[in-house]
Amino acid sequence: MDENNIKNYNDYLDEILISQKQIIKRTKELGEEISRDYSGQDLHLICILRGGVMFLTDLMRNISVPHTIDFMAISSYGVGGRKSSGAVRIKLDLNDDIFDKNVILVEDIIDSGHTIAKVLEMLKTRKPKSLEVCSMLDKAARREVDVPIKYRGFDIEDKFVFGYGLDLDEYYRNLPFVGVVDPDKYTPPD
Ligand code: IMP
Ligand code: MG
Repeated sequence: MDENNIKNYNDYLDEILISQKQIIKRTKELGEEISRDYSGQDLHLICILRGGVMFLTDLMRNISVPHTIDFMAISSYGVGGRKSSGAVRIKLDLNDDIFDKNVILVEDIIDSGHTIAKVLEMLKTRKPKSLEVCSMLDKAARREVDVPIKYRGFDIEDKFVFGYGLDLDEYYRNLPFVGVVDPDKYTPPD
């Protein structure tokens, strides 16, 4: 993608897969479910930057139990790339200690599962009281390692998607819906 010639998202959009209305409804349901499960307990949400940001902020507005948030960034994919190597590196670590906390990891999408599996492994060594995964999207057909997803927004087919936190070469994260990338117009570099 030529940075001097950023196109309108419509030029890459094949179809809208999940509408804003569906996202609003589902984040409300997930927030209510989490609120029930953690009723009377302390809760700490960890968002993996940058894709999970939109989902985190919508989700937390629907969680009624008091909770704290933190962020971490890891590298697994290159810009726009599709292949997850399984080699995950922490680029930005958490601010707060998670020892003895009820932690939910908030992710945009789980694809091969390598990224989240590695993150779970790293976080477990810090001895949280509990550790669960909440992912907006689950692309189960591409799973290579088993990942326990406690809270799941939507199951999706094996299609490259963007919007609602997910990027195309870092752009279009702001879109309020999840769209399928038109493979004739955009190829993610491998
Ligand atoms: P995994 O390690 O293969 O599960 O990779 C998960 C990460 O890959 C996500 O957090 C996304 O950053 C990225 N990813 C996977 N599928 C897509 C997609 O369809 N669109 C945009 N990013 C994706
Ligand atoms: Mg991500």
